[in-house]
Amino acid sequence: MKIQILPSILAADYGHLADEILRAEAAGADALHLDMMDPSFVPNMSFGPDIVALARKVAPGFYRHVHLMMRRPDLYLEDFAKAGAQTIQVHIEADCDLHTELKRIRAMGVKPALVINPETPVERLAPYLGEADEVLVMTVHPGRGGQKFMVECLPKISWLRSRCPGLDIMIDGGANAETVPIAFKAGANQFVAGSYLFGKADMKAAIDDLRRRLGE
Ligand code: DX5
Ligand code: ZN
Repeated sequence: MKIQILPSILAADYGHLADEILRAEAAGADALHLDMMDPSFVPNMSFGPDIVALARKVAPGFYRHVHLMMRRPDLYLEDFAKAGAQTIQVHIEADCDLHTELKRIRAMGVKPALVINPETPVERLAPYLGEADEVLVMTVHPGRGGQKFMVECLPKISWLRSRCPGLDIMIDGGANAETVPIAFKAGANQFVAGSYLFGKADMKAAIDDLRRRLGE
């Protein structure tokens, strides 16, 4: 499986957002992770499709994963696809028919992905596994950056990896030089990191170090 490191711009300096996106690209990150929050789904708000469009404008070749922490992602899929999302991640806990929405995402030319919260049993993903290109296992309760990695989420990664050897499995929340290798051992191959990477003056050194720790 291809290892990918994805900085989350939730932790970027918003006063210099365009430069922060370019800094992540220049650091050798594989893709950008963009967190959309709806306060009826998580206890916070972030930004909307305009920021996805900004990322496309400043760094057109830098792949954009869009994480929709939204109760009704189905109402906004077209907006995010038009803004330049290349993968759209929807929560299994959302209030919509995910069979339909995963198909709609693919029909828009965007890769569909599923996300699962810490408190949700992993078996709930089973009916959808053939329909998503990737599963994001939340390793914190979604809603803000800088939280502690929840080791109790690791069995979900192993469960998914044993059933789907070719699936991209991503983690999000609390990623750092200690927790990324632990998640990798459990079977994850894509790693979102917000505060850890944007907090580093030399993001490239931090990404290179993560890759070394994963044996790359
Ligand atoms: C959390 C978001 C994450 C967040 C991770 O709700 O989905 O993408 O940016 O932040 P860190 O890496 O600081 O835990
Ligand atoms: Zn996220």
